[in-house]
Amino acid sequence: MSSALLQVKNLSARLGAAQLLFGIDFEAHAGEVVVLVGRNGAGKSTTLKAIMGLASEVSGTVMFSGQSIAGLEPHTIARLGLGYVPEERRIFTGLTVAENLEVGRIPSRSDTADAPRWSVDRVCELFPKLKEMLDRPGGQMSGGEQQMLTIARTLMGNPRAILLDEPSEGLAPIVVERIAESIQRLKRDGLCIVLSEQNTHFARAVADRAIVIERGCVTHAGGIELLEPTHP
Ligand SMILES: Nc1ncnc2c1ncn2[C@@H]1O[C@H](COP(=O)(O)OP(=O)(O)O)[C@@H](O)[C@H]1O
Ligand SMILES: [Mg+2]
Repeated sequence: MSSALLQVKNLSARLGAAQLLFGIDFEAHAGEVVVLVGRNGAGKSTTLKAIMGLASEVSGTVMFSGQSIAGLEPHTIARLGLGYVPEERRIFTGLTVAENLEVGRIPSRSDTADAPRWSVDRVCELFPKLKEMLDRPGGQMSGGEQQMLTIARTLMGNPRAILLDEPSEGLAPIVVERIAESIQRLKRDGLCIVLSEQNTHFARAVADRAIVIERGCVTHAGGIELLEPTHP
């Protein structure tokens, strides 16, 4: 397999006296979905934040597309082509859906040859629900629609890889299924996707590999058979 697009080595993070991550290692390739699984409080969100430059007191190596991104500002990391959808799905409630999508454009990336060119039309093809809602305020959307919008808005920045923090959390099964289909499609298009997830059914539907995190450490790493009910 070609070299990894995202390589995380010995990633640690502290918050004051508390050590949250103890040397996390994993990598992800183009066209691959890697899922971080683990109980509530295990350190999944902290891992994604630490990669994006959003966690405090971080050490270790994070390479993206052959370049070290450790210590860079979140907006610089995004401009390099690493998108991030936080757990809280921060949409702009006072802006319309179309305006929210425009906010996601990263002008300096829209001309790069390597990145697929995302447009409002193309994200609406991926999430047809958004097409009917383009003129509606973001504040009127359901949780599932907001999740679709935050993923779509991140794609508008033409990322090569995206980090999704618990994309299925709190959503109805039918919506979770739609999001799983979209992730499978993005993977077929060659995007690299790292997601954190407690829903093992969803994780098994989309992921190629699983990284099990317990108390800030990777305890298992391998194929998605790790997500069988007999495993943690
Ligand atoms: N802002 C914070 N203040 C205090 N503790 C935090 C904060 N963020 C995370 N933690 C702690 O860090 C640990 C890992 O949290 P987190 O990465 O959110 O876990 P997960 O996403 O796997 O549920 C937990 O013990 C949590 O309580
Ligand atoms: Mg979390």
